[in-house]
Amino acid sequence: MTPLLQLKQIKKSFPGVKALDGINLTVASGEIHALLGENGAGKSTLMKILCGIYQPDSGEICIEGKSRSFSNYREAIDSGVGIIFQEFSLIPYLNAVENIFLNREIKNSFGLLDRSKMRAKAVNIFKRLSVTLDMDVPVEQLSVAQQQFVEIAKALSLDAKILVLDEPTATLTPGEAEHLFCVMRDLRLLGVGMVFISHHLEEIFQVCDTITVLRDGQYIGTVPTAESDINQLVEMMVGRKVEQAFPIRSLKPDRSVKVLEATIQRTKTSPKDCFHLHKGEILGFAGLVGSGRTETVCALIGAQRCFQKTISLHGKTTRLSDPAHALEQGIGLLPESRKTEGLVLPFSVSQNITLNRHEKIASILIHSKKERLIVRQLIKAVGVKTPNAETAVNTLSGGNQQKVVIARWLNNTCSVLIFDEPTRGIDVGAKAEIYQLMHELTEKGISIIMISSELPEIIGVCDRVLVFRDGHIVAELDNQGIDSNTIMLHATGNTL
Ligand SMILES: Nc1ncnc2c1ncn2[C@@H]1O[C@H](COP(=O)(O)OP(=O)(O)OP(=O)(O)O)[C@@H](O)[C@H]1O
Ligand SMILES: [Mg+2]
Repeated sequence: MTPLLQLKQIKKSFPGVKALDGINLTVASGEIHALLGENGAGKSTLMKILCGIYQPDSGEICIEGKSRSFSNYREAIDSGVGIIFQEFSLIPYLNAVENIFLNREIKNSFGLLDRSKMRAKAVNIFKRLSVTLDMDVPVEQLSVAQQQFVEIAKALSLDAKILVLDEPTATLTPGEAEHLFCVMRDLRLLGVGMVFISHHLEEIFQVCDTITVLRDGQYIGTVPTAESDINQLVEMMVGRKVEQAFPIRSLKPDRSVKVLEATIQRTKTSPKDCFHLHKGEILGFAGLVGSGRTETVCALIGAQRCFQKTISLHGKTTRLSDPAHALEQGIGLLPESRKTEGLVLPFSVSQNITLNRHEKIASILIHSKKERLIVRQLIKAVGVKTPNAETAVNTLSGGNQQKVVIARWLNNTCSVLIFDEPTRGIDVGAKAEIYQLMHELTEKGISIIMISSELPEIIGVCDRVLVFRDGHIVAELDNQGIDSNTIMLHATGNTL
């Protein structure tokens, strides 16, 4: 039988990077095909070629046996190809319905916009996804997870026969991801062929039929999921066995020194949340997406209004009126949404790394020799895959952009760092390196608050854990023999 999709010997180079070097991929109708590889392996590039966003240097795309070439995404959509983009493609000031039907508005027989029909279609898709969200507000007012669902709904509304899902679960809770998987299984029954990209290997086993692995732009191989296991996949991806997922922590935090003490009351009627942070400690903020962890740190550093707060930093009362003030006081935040808050995308890697130091002159930055050396060391330390330090950040792969944000925080003079989902979209090998870097920061006396939705990460990395539910701290757990069940019990009120 002719396969639904065949990518044959696809090659693509960018200045200084051979992104794809002869990649093959075959997807059958009704198949969910995982595309795996480390950050920068070429996954998104291959999918953008399939969708007409990039043109291949050579190679062939066949759909149902016919050779195709798309000069833009529109042409791909017309041939039944849809993609959920890794980096959001939503227009921030439009609402969910307007975003879903942008440039494909449904019109009635008078040629006027049929708003009720579009809305009904959107409602239907969100129902299939078991998602409730406000469809009347600009999407920028929605949470990151809700925006992700709008992105997913937009692709589903295309009724594509080939659907690409580029890290759709990175911002979702396991429960939310499960809803998406149900929809994917339904689509499989309808004969849709899917390419699914994720750094969560357990998801691959939950939902995929076949797995193709790329490494550094090379095709490594294709295996049926049923005949594979995590160790084999990691070895195919990384090219070596990955040691210790969580590096051993040699430092014990100094519990006699409280670097930060905070009492935060977000609204007049809400309870007060009190917490403290020890010197050299990694304090975990666990909980579900939307449980109030990000809001609490935003209130702390003055990025979000709150009714009342009392903060003591190194024993001195301080106000932290806004993030710039917090930074002056030595508190830095690595934000959850790197594209909108974390990076200046058209700037180079090196400008982004040195941003906090020279915010005012960043655009005309001229690096001294010493600075160039520091930047080079940082790029190496976090393993940013980039042709050089002057490459624009928006040409890096998603995971490598995240590494640049981390590199920036290593290059600072803060005493408290807040990492909001620091390893989202980061591959297995690089995750361990980032944990190691966090340990090194604490060894320098820096204290860290880490927000994470990944329980193994909370358990493997943190010295102490605060669990959030419905906007507030509901439990404090000392990380001696904590298990996922205990955390989930507090986070949801139920066990796993
Ligand atoms: N527009 C571009 N200009 C220059 N280089 C690019 C461009 N797009 C991608 N690259 C480079 O191509 C390589 C592959 O990137 P790609 O985004 O495909 O990786 P990926 O496998 O999707 O990684 P991740 O898991 O981090 O999302 C990277 O080295 C990246 O820097
Ligand atoms: Mg990618």
